[in-house]
Amino acid sequence: HNYLGAYSNILSRAGYKEYYFIDGFASTGFCKSKQTSKTIRGSATLALTVNPPFSKYFFIELDDDKIKELENLRPLFPKLNFEIFQGDCNIEIVKVLQKIADNNPLLALLDPQAGDLYWDTIQKISKKNKAELLINFPFGMAINRYMPLEDGKDIDSEMREKLNKIFGVEVWEPIYRERKKGTITPSQAREKYLDIYLIGLKQLGFKYYTVKNLKNSKNVHIYYLIFATHHRKGLEKIKDNFVEGEPERETLFFKQDIINAVYNEFAGSQKISLDIVLEKMLTGKNIYRVQDFKDALIQLEKDKKLIRINPRPRCRSFNDTDLFKII
Ligand SMILES: C[S@@+](CC[C@H](N)C(=O)[O-])C[C@H]1O[C@@H](n2cnc3c(N)ncnc32)[C@H](O)[C@@H]1O
Repeated sequence: HNYLGAYSNILSRAGYKEYYFIDGFASTGFCKSKQTSKTIRGSATLALTVNPPFSKYFFIELDDDKIKELENLRPLFPKLNFEIFQGDCNIEIVKVLQKIADNNPLLALLDPQAGDLYWDTIQKISKKNKAELLINFPFGMAINRYMPLEDGKDIDSEMREKLNKIFGVEVWEPIYRERKKGTITPSQAREKYLDIYLIGLKQLGFKYYTVKNLKNSKNVHIYYLIFATHHRKGLEKIKDNFVEGEPERETLFFKQDIINAVYNEFAGSQKISLDIVLEKMLTGKNIYRVQDFKDALIQLEKDKKLIRINPRPRCRSFNDTDLFKII
């Protein structure tokens, strides 16, 4: 809800009048909490209750009964504009995208149950210049089921076809082979599969992304949540929400780590700016937000590793275009 609300807020403040929400695997609007088994709001109702609301909502769901429940949401939100599509998201997405002008911002939430989200669908969404994605990459919960590791078992042709559709490429297979031989650990394999996805997103123009590794109460990975956008400004705001509460941010080394990271990336550079630093370093799997980079630059200046090219009098902070070098 946080991300959806933040997204809607950012767009409305940026003056956009029309922006859309697509829930590709919408379910019913409600789900059962695993901890308390109470009914809680699902993504559809969470999206419908953000303030300000999206101009229009598109819900796609495969299951008949769930579609009926989605229809039941209409009287609860009489003022909101939403369309419901029954069918496979990978097919219905074409109809949905036809209803959205190429230049209108949209947020597509893709929260598949198992390996039901195909790369091809992401590719279609990427054609919209202002599309942003919130993808649940359910590796731990689903995709690994198509990758048997037991002795004597191997991938069959159906699994291979499925995995090719999920990843859009065949490069998952060498990783699977390494994992099966035991030369990489489960978490190394998982990171590599994630990287295939992230590289693919980048190639589709979703250059700016962030990833949250969601874990259960026993600290075991369940799924990755990926936010991806064509525009850095989109990432800047959402990243604050994504990294908030990350335990690693509370560690003793956190601040020094980002200072070192910036220093290592740019040492010897003669003419850089916050804009250049963010362009290079905000995207990716790291948990640094914009303010962290600003703080790191201030510290580098204190440490005399950063020299301003045109110092502004009595100014400690950095705006996007202040030029400096790192020595
Ligand atoms: C993980 S649930 C989504 C939960 C939802 N985001 C929420 O917060 O309540 C996945 C949903 O996708 C539906 N589904 C499965 N395969 C699908 C497909 N190919 N196209 C569309 N929906 C599908 C399932 O019926 C299920 O309701």
